[in-house]
Amino acid sequence: MSRLLVLLAVVALVAAGSSSSCGAWELNIRMPTARAVEEAAARLLERDVAAPLIHALRPLLGSGEDLGRRAGVPCDSWRLAVEAYNKRDWKTVPADCEDYVGHYMLGKHYRRDSRVVVDEAVAYAEGLKLAGNGKEVWVFDVDETSLSNLPYYAKHGFGARPYNATSFNEYVLKGSAPALPETQRLFRKLVSLGIKPVFLTGRGEDQRSITDVNLRRQGYSGWLELLLKPLGFKGTAIGYKSGERQKLVDAGYVIVGNIGDQWSDILGKPEGARTFKLPDPIDEILFVSRRNARSEIIDGYRIEGPYLDLVSSLLRALPLRYTVYQRLARAVAMATATAKLIFLLVALVGAGSSCGSAWELMPTAAGAVVQATAARLMKEDVPAAATIHALRPLVGSAGDLGRRAGVPCDSWRLAVEAYNKRDWKTVPANCENYVGHYMLGGHYRRDSRVVVDEAVAYAEGLKLGGHGKEVWVFDIDETTLSNLPYYATHGFGTKPYNATAFDEYVLEGSAPVLPETQRLFEKLISLGIKPVFLTGRTEDKRAITVSNLRSQGYSGWLELLLKPAGFKGTAIAYKSGERQKLVDAGYVIVGNIGDQWSDILGKPEGARTFKLPDPLYYIG
Ligand SMILES: *[C@@H]1O[C@H](CO)[C@@H](O)[C@H](O)[C@H]1NC(C)=O
Ligand SMILES: *[C@@H]1O[C@H](CO)[C@@H](O)[C@H](O)[C@H]1NC(C)=O
Repeated sequence: MSRLLVLLAVVALVAAGSSSSCGAWELNIRMPTARAVEEAAARLLERDVAAPLIHALRPLLGSGEDLGRRAGVPCDSWRLAVEAYNKRDWKTVPADCEDYVGHYMLGKHYRRDSRVVVDEAVAYAEGLKLAGNGKEVWVFDVDETSLSNLPYYAKHGFGARPYNATSFNEYVLKGSAPALPETQRLFRKLVSLGIKPVFLTGRGEDQRSITDVNLRRQGYSGWLELLLKPLGFKGTAIGYKSGERQKLVDAGYVIVGNIGDQWSDILGKPEGARTFKLPDPIDEILFVSRRNARSEIIDGYRIEGPYLDLVSSLLRALPLRYTVYQRLARAVAMATATAKLIFLLVALVGAGSSCGSAWELMPTAAGAVVQATAARLMKEDVPAAATIHALRPLVGSAGDLGRRAGVPCDSWRLAVEAYNKRDWKTVPANCENYVGHYMLGGHYRRDSRVVVDEAVAYAEGLKLGGHGKEVWVFDIDETTLSNLPYYATHGFGTKPYNATAFDEYVLEGSAPVLPETQRLFEKLISLGIKPVFLTGRTEDKRAITVSNLRSQGYSGWLELLLKPAGFKGTAIAYKSGERQKLVDAGYVIVGNIGDQWSDILGKPEGARTFKLPDPLYYIG
């Protein structure tokens, strides 16, 4: 018990240090009471947390926990699973996560995560060698990528309520969606570089002019095309969007980049030379069947047929204020005979600048949310530590140790998991602590658990052929076995990779099991699906790898595929080649799990892929 008290004192000191130096704690938040920390410590000891207690406790003080935990739903793990494409086909945000998502969106966290993605996209664009023929284009999605529907979702449960096409369309038809400022920054940078933006949206043709005007009044201009979904299109979002991108390619364009908030925006050939996934924990693919008439309701007036084209072309030509646009709509609706003339007159008179962005209003709203939440939590008398967790996202820090050091470590980690950050060599130096706490505290395990829960549910739902040919591919390092004991003593990924030292560690054969993966492994065997290990470790490590796997309780796998010594080529090429051999041998790869994107990219990927978290290193 005295060890515990000493640790509590240390923790209290750490907490005090944080509160004085961390700008994110500006709000007058009570620090956890000794009792709250003691309770948490006792709980952790009960759970037999293997990691040093200090690391296990540190996240409680603000580095890694989440709002939803109190409600039994790990909302931030859920969000990560959405962003890394582990969670699919979900209909609504878990009810318990409404607050969490609201705070995420309204606080600075969403913006910060978006900024890291756009920084990456801008750096990529600046590094491109353009052909100078004006044929390079960049595809932008519209909703939650170029324009924000947050004003709508803020009033409709932050995605926790079922999608209501009627009320959502009413919102869209107001044409008032604010610009997403980070995307706009990318948009303008591309235009200045000579790369032409193309909007490609799931909105239907009947919303062309309102979309056009909304984009313009929010300051977008200079795009090459606005591609909307033909009315009556039947098919998936991926089918529609990849088809449109193919048309661009067929027309001689080169898609150098592609950015969207949905995986369906950026999957499906041709994807574009590089894809970027913006965060969006709210709406899963808006696929609404729309009215079959080519008409639009603007400000209560229905505009039909050719007038829509006229409105659109006028709006293309003139940066109109939205009120002017509304007046135009009224004029068309009431006096169609003279509509063309009125259009021209009013348009010329009313040409002016666009309105201010509603985005600027968000911090005010967030302020109110902070107050209200704080008051509610005080009333509910939740432990002080939980209060901090509840409030942290609101004040923009949301579990981000690195912020103090100028590196938003959790945004960096998200960018890694969602495959926005690629080809990185080391963890940012300032994020060593953050990554350490993430890995050693409960956060890493919790994120992994959500991925494996998803994989288990998927596996249980499979209809097997009964011929014993179904296999599931497992990567090894950071998927099946953990190298955390090595990385914990080597800067948690902040130091350059040292092959000699790492090999020494591997040859000890002491890497511990990753318990969530093992749960999946055993479940699959019980279901009759055969595990296949496919690792970047080389053939010369076969014996030690087998003994390490066995000593950690793995057994019953079909094959252990290691890389031939001297293999030259990328990880994706090696792994997809091995999977192809499995398919050629008559196996059906029903699942594929790894911690690196290179584990799960490249045909044949397997029927469903799962990406485990790994902020320690990148293998391309
Ligand atoms: C959907 O929105 C419309 C318009 O706001 C409303 O009248 C209707 O009741 C809503 N439907 C549901 C199921 O909530
Ligand atoms: C790499 O690790 C080996 C073995 O531990 C060590 O001797 C060597 O100095 C390390 N190299 C670097 C560049 O740190």
